[in-house]
Amino acid sequence: MAKCLVTGGAGFIGSHLISRLLSDNHHVVALDHAPWNNSNNLFNLNSSAFKYVQGSVSNSSLFRSLITDADQIYLLAATLGVRRVIENPIGTANTQVDQIRDICATASSNQKIFYASTSEVYGKTNVSPLTEGLPLVLGEPGKARWAYACSKLLSEYLLLSLYRDKNIPLVVGRFFNVVGPRQNQAYGAVIPNLLSQAIKGIPLTVFGDGTQTRSFCHVEDAVDAMLSLMNNDSCNGQVYNIGNAEEISIRNLADKIRLLVDPLLETKMIPYEDVMPTGFEEILHRVPSLGKIKQYTGWSSKYKLDETLLDCLRALKGNSV
Ligand SMILES: NC(=O)c1ccc[n+]([C@@H]2O[C@H](COP(=O)([O-])OP(=O)(O)OC[C@H]3O[C@@H](n4cnc5c(N)ncnc54)[C@H](O)[C@@H]3O)[C@@H](O)[C@H]2O)c1
Repeated sequence: MAKCLVTGGAGFIGSHLISRLLSDNHHVVALDHAPWNNSNNLFNLNSSAFKYVQGSVSNSSLFRSLITDADQIYLLAATLGVRRVIENPIGTANTQVDQIRDICATASSNQKIFYASTSEVYGKTNVSPLTEGLPLVLGEPGKARWAYACSKLLSEYLLLSLYRDKNIPLVVGRFFNVVGPRQNQAYGAVIPNLLSQAIKGIPLTVFGDGTQTRSFCHVEDAVDAMLSLMNNDSCNGQVYNIGNAEEISIRNLADKIRLLVDPLLETKMIPYEDVMPTGFEEILHRVPSLGKIKQYTGWSSKYKLDETLLDCLRALKGNSV
């Protein structure tokens, strides 16, 4: 039994992670700045092994005291969604920088840390699939969307230096489009958006020409991947992609969803400039190579896209949570 601290624990991935940690008999403290009544994701509140702390990772004295008490630390707090990042680049970056500053100052070698990074750090890299060792090409600093990727990448850099210099056990996971029940729809994530349009019986909206491709990882697979990295010391001090290799264009994704919910629904293509704020840049392809995590841990994703879509659909319709 370990004492686990999860930052961003009221969020989508955090809530699934906490559920798993509690069922594995760990004690969990969640730190999240979301107010209590927005923390619907936290369903195991009655467990005496679980504590919710409402506060920001930027509250250094609070965060440091929680770090000190933990055996395992999962750093998930972040501002998500291209639109929200463009509206608040400084807050976006500070959430990462503040977390890592206090981790660097406080963590010790008898703790273990997981850092949630992102496929966004691959930036404009024009390679597919993406492997962890690729040189990275980010967008220009004048474009605010890159505040998210830059601050995640800086955090990766600082954490790997912490591992090398102070031998703090830690691992970095770069998530690629994690989806599943309880995902926040407000950030513009494509699957929850298309599914909820389909459920409402309104046209599905695809931005751009729909030829951009992505792949989608079920949140249960993502949690399995995190735990397999945390439970395997040979993974320490390394970066791993976490995702699903099943690539699909957004146009074809919309068609799949249409066929799943109502084949008579329309799909509308909307130019980016009509919907995205200034500073938006589309990335055409973003698909992970998953060889490294498989080699180190044996993990590979279990969910096919069709099963993931069905699970998300059931959850959105309220049949399963
Ligand atoms: N969901 C994905 O597809 C995806 C992809 C790449 C990376 N990630 C990373 O995984 C992590 C979890 O993402 P998620 O999808 O669960 O997002 P989420 O928005 O559901 O969860 C993030 C949580 O962080 C909290 N938070 C934000 N700023 C905070 C602060 N200053 N102090 C305390 N809490 C704060 C939010 O309130 C939210 O509950 C994030 O670090 C994200 O960057 C997710």
